[in-house]
Amino acid sequence: MYTDNHMYDIVVKRNSSSSRKRSWNGMRSHITPPKKRPSFTSGTCSAGDGHTYSQDMTENKDTELCFSDNEDLFEGYDSIVGDSSFLAKLEDVELQMRQHHKDQQTPHCCEDQLLDSILAEDFRDSPLRTLPSSPLAFRQAVMTPQKSPSRGVHNTSTPDLKNNKPTICHAGVNKSAPKARRSMKDHLKKVLIENAATSNTISNRVRQKEAVITEEMGVAMESISAEGDLGPFFGLPSRVKDLICRLKGIQDLYDWQKTCLSLDSVQQRRNLIYSLPTSGGKTLVAEILIFKELLCRMKDALLILPYISLVQEKVRGLSSFGIELDFMVEEYAGSKGRFPPVKRRSKNSLYITTIEKGHSLVNSLIEMDRLGNIGLVVVDELHMLGDGNRGAILEMTLSKILYMSKSTQIIGMSATLGNVGDLQRFLKAENYTNDFRPVELKEYVKIKDSIYEVDPKEEECFRFSRLLDIKYSSGMQKLDPDHIIALATEIIPQQSCLIFCPTKKNCENLAGMICKYLNKEFRKHKETEKATLLGELKSSGNGSLCPVLQKTVPFGLAYHHSGLTSDEKKLVEEAYSSGVLCLLTCTSTLAAGINLPARRVILRSPYVAADFLKRSQYKQMVGRAGRAGIDAMGESILVLQEKDINMAKKLVSAPVEKCYSNLLHDGGQGLLSLVLSLIGLKITTTIEQVRDFMKGTLLNVQEAQVSPERSLWDLTLEFIEKLRQKALIEASGDVNDETILQITRLGRATFKGSVDLSYCDLLYRDLSKGLEGLLLNSFLHLLYLVTPYDMVHQCKPDWMIYFRQFTNLSAAEQKMASAVGVPESFVTRKAAGQSVRKTVDIVVVNRLYLAMVLYSLLKETNLWNVSDRFQLTRGFVQTLLSSASAFGSSVLHFTEELEEFWAYKALLSELTRRLTYCVQAELIPLMEVAGVMEHRAKQLYNAGYKTLAHLANADPKILVQTIDNLFKKQADQITASAKMLIKEKADALQEEVDDLLMLPSDLLSL
Ligand SMILES: Nc1ncnc2c1ncn2[C@@H]1O[C@H](COP(=O)(O)OP(=O)(O)OP(=O)(O)O)[C@@H](O)[C@H]1O
Ligand SMILES: [Mg+2]
Repeated sequence: MYTDNHMYDIVVKRNSSSSRKRSWNGMRSHITPPKKRPSFTSGTCSAGDGHTYSQDMTENKDTELCFSDNEDLFEGYDSIVGDSSFLAKLEDVELQMRQHHKDQQTPHCCEDQLLDSILAEDFRDSPLRTLPSSPLAFRQAVMTPQKSPSRGVHNTSTPDLKNNKPTICHAGVNKSAPKARRSMKDHLKKVLIENAATSNTISNRVRQKEAVITEEMGVAMESISAEGDLGPFFGLPSRVKDLICRLKGIQDLYDWQKTCLSLDSVQQRRNLIYSLPTSGGKTLVAEILIFKELLCRMKDALLILPYISLVQEKVRGLSSFGIELDFMVEEYAGSKGRFPPVKRRSKNSLYITTIEKGHSLVNSLIEMDRLGNIGLVVVDELHMLGDGNRGAILEMTLSKILYMSKSTQIIGMSATLGNVGDLQRFLKAENYTNDFRPVELKEYVKIKDSIYEVDPKEEECFRFSRLLDIKYSSGMQKLDPDHIIALATEIIPQQSCLIFCPTKKNCENLAGMICKYLNKEFRKHKETEKATLLGELKSSGNGSLCPVLQKTVPFGLAYHHSGLTSDEKKLVEEAYSSGVLCLLTCTSTLAAGINLPARRVILRSPYVAADFLKRSQYKQMVGRAGRAGIDAMGESILVLQEKDINMAKKLVSAPVEKCYSNLLHDGGQGLLSLVLSLIGLKITTTIEQVRDFMKGTLLNVQEAQVSPERSLWDLTLEFIEKLRQKALIEASGDVNDETILQITRLGRATFKGSVDLSYCDLLYRDLSKGLEGLLLNSFLHLLYLVTPYDMVHQCKPDWMIYFRQFTNLSAAEQKMASAVGVPESFVTRKAAGQSVRKTVDIVVVNRLYLAMVLYSLLKETNLWNVSDRFQLTRGFVQTLLSSASAFGSSVLHFTEELEEFWAYKALLSELTRRLTYCVQAELIPLMEVAGVMEHRAKQLYNAGYKTLAHLANADPKILVQTIDNLFKKQADQITASAKMLIKEKADALQEEVDDLLMLPSDLLSL
C-alpha cells in the first residue's frame, strides 16, 4: 500500500504541480463576460483618528473587464510593439530592476546570473503560475521567447528563477530555462524585428484588438509597479476561490466580507481592526489576506491565536491550502516551533502561533534581522490585549513589530471591543465594523417559570415571552429547581445544546443529573455511534473510563472542562460536532476555544466561579448559539435568580468592557520584561530610545486611565533602575552624553529563556545549588529543577500520599530531597498530623511533590494511574506535564547563555524531549501532526500508519474505513498536515544543503 511511488508523489509534487500551474496561467484564450465589482453592503469604516465614515452602500455600478484564468491576451505578440511608450516604460523598469539587483548582488556574479536574478526578483516563478489576468499574460509574453502554439499543459517550464537554480524537470516537462533567461529588452527587440518582417497589412480587427491590449498593457505596468490586483478573486487567482469552496464548503463570501476586502485600507495595506459579532465569518477575511500576502507579495505571514487548540485547528485546516498553493504552514504552539524559524528561500511561510510563541518568534526574527520578511500579522481575538499577562505579551509583540518593521501590516479582529479608538491609536489602524450575523441570535432570560426576551432598548430590558412548560415531580423540582432539564429537553436530542456552568464540578453534576430524568428513547438515538465513542474514550484512557461520561454518553450528553485529558476533550468535541452527542455541559473556556456552536445555549447562572459575568464573557457564550448553515436561528437563555435581575439587566445592555493595557499588570512584570528584551535585542540602547519606544505602546495611549498617578516616563525610569538592581542590565559608558544600556549575562539568559523576571534569581540559585550535587541516576532531581514555579501554588499535597511516595524513593533520591529542603522527618510528621517546628519552605515542598508526579508519569506514561495515585484530576496532571515541558525548554535556553551551567545543556535537551512526548516512543512521529493526540496516534499506529510518510501517503477514504470514529474531513486534514510536515522537514534540509554548498560571498577577495 505504501510503495515508493507514493513517496515519490510527495517529493516531486512541488515540481510537477509547479509546471502545471505555470502553464495554466494563460495559454488559452477565453475572455469571460465583464464581472461586476463586489457589491457593497452596509458597514462603517473609520480612519485611524477615530473618525467614522460610511462606505458606499450602493452597489458599485462600475464594471471592469475580468478575464478567466485561461485567457490569453497575447495570442499575437505583435501588439506589444504597437505602443512605443510601453517599450520605453519597459526599458525603464528593466533598468531599475537591474540597478536594484546590482545593489544586492555580490561582486563575483556573472552576467547570466544577474539576468536570472533580475527575473527572479520581479518575475518570480511562484506568483506567476497563479496569475491569471493581464499582468500575468504580459509577464508570460515577456518571459516566453516565442509564440509557441504547441505550448501545452505539461511542456512548459521556466527556471527556478528565485533561487538561481534550474528547476528540476520531470517527465513531460521540457527544459526551456535558457531561453527564459533572455532579457526583456532583447526579447522585445527580437519580436520587433520579427514583426517588421511580417505583412504590414493590419486589419481593423487586429488594430482594435491591439488597442485593447495596449490598454491592458498599461494596467499591467501599473500592476507591476503598484502591487495592484493580480487576480480576479480579491487579487488572488480564482483557484483560491475554488479551494475555499472545496475545502471549506463556502461558495460565496458574505457581502460584508467582500466590502471589507475591498476597503481602501486593505488595498493599500494599512493596518486595520475589524469587529463583528461572533460567528460573523471574520476568519475567512483574514485568511484571504494571508493568502494574498503569501502568494502575491511573496512575504511570510503570522497568525496569532489565543489557544493551543485553536492553533492546532487552524494548522490542520490551512495545511491543505498550503499543499495546494505551495506555501508552508508552521505550527508554533506548546512545544512546537523552531527559533529562529527555518529561513526558506523558495517558499513563504505562514506561522500559526499562540500569543506566547508569537512573541518568541518575533524576538528571534528581530535578533536575526529578519522581521521585515513578515509582511502581515493577523491577531485573532484582539481584545486579548486586555487579558492580564497574556495581554502584556501581545502588546509587547505588536509594539515591537510597529517599531521595527514599518512595512509589516497588522490586522486585528474581535467580536468584543469596547474601546476600539484606543486600539486604533495604538496600532495606527483603521476600523471596520458591521453587525452582521449569519444566523439570527435571540437572547432570553429565565426567571422562575417564565421566559423573557432580552431587549435592551426597552426600559425593563426583559419582555415577557412565554411560560415554560414544566411537569416536574416534587423530587425533580428539588433536584432541578432551575428547570434546566425542561429547557434542555425542548431541544435535544434532535438539536444541540450547550450549558455553561460556573464551576467544573457543576458541569459534571449537571450532566449526571439531567441523565437521571431522561427517558429510554434518548438512549436509542445514535446508539451505535455512542457505543463507539465510549469505546474510544476507554481506550484513550488505557482501559480507564470516566464514570461520569460512562453514565452520560449513552444519553448523548457529556461534560467538557479542563479536568478532561486532551484526548477526551477531542473525542467529546468531535462527537458533539458530528451530532453523536447532543448536549455538553461546559465551563466558560469552551466559549473562547474551538468553534462548537449550538442551537440553544443555556447559561446556568450569571457567574463564573464566584464572579459575576463580564459583558464580554456573556457575549462570547451566547455567541455560540446558532449554527451557520444548519439553524435558522439560535437562542440563548440566561437562568436568573431574582437577586441577580438588576445586575443581569446591566449585563445584557451595557457596552462591552474596555480593553486596557496590561504592561503594568502584576506589579509591572510586563513592562519590566519589555524593557529587558528591548535592551537584550538591541532595539534600544539608550534611555532616550527606550522612551521613544514606549511612545508606541498601548500603555502610552491609555496612560491617563491606566496609570493616572505616575507617568509612563517615570515608570520606565524606575523599571530601568529595577533591572539594574537585579543585575539584569548595566550601563556601559556614555556616548554623546547618553548612557548606553547593555544586557548582562543573567539578563540575556532570562530574556532568552523567556523566564519570568520574578523568579529568575531563584532559578539561578536553584540551578547553582543543583550543580553541587546533581543526582543523575534518576530523573527526579532534573525534574525538580524544571517543575514550573507558577504551578506550585495550584496544588495542595495530600500528606499521606506524599509520605507514601517519599518512602518509595531510593535512598539517593531521598538524600537529594533532603538537600533541596524536604527532609524525611518533615514529611513523616506531616503525614502523622504532627506539628512541625522546623522551618521548611512550603514552596520547595510542594514543588518536590509535583516533581514526583512528573517522575511517576515519566516512568509509566499512564496519566490515569498517576492521577489516581496522587488524587489529582487527569486534566491537571496533563497540564503539569505540558507546563513542565515548556518550562524545561525555557530553563534549557537560560542555561545555554550561562557558561557555568554547561552541564545542563545535554541533560535538559533529553529531559525536555521526554516531557514533550510522554508517550511510547513509536507514537512520537505521529503526534507531530497537529491535533493528533496519543489515542489517535495509537489507533493509526495499530492500523499500520507508523510514520509521517505513511500518513502523508494515506488515502483519506481508506483511513476513514480503518480508523474508528474518524470523519472524512478529519482524515483529509490529517493527511494534509502530515504532507505539510514532510514538506517542511524536507525543505529545511534542502535549505541546509543549499547553505552548505553556497560559495562564500567574499571568496573572490581572498
Ligand atoms: N461566506 C460564508 N458563507 C458561509 N459560511 C461562512 C462564510 N464565512 C464564514 N463562514 C462560516 O461561518 C462560521 C463562523 O465563522 P468564523 O469562525 O470566522 O466566525 P468569527 O467571526 O471568527 O466568530 P467568533 O468571534 O466566534 O470567532 C464558520 O464555520 C465559517 O466556515
Ligand atoms: Mg473567530
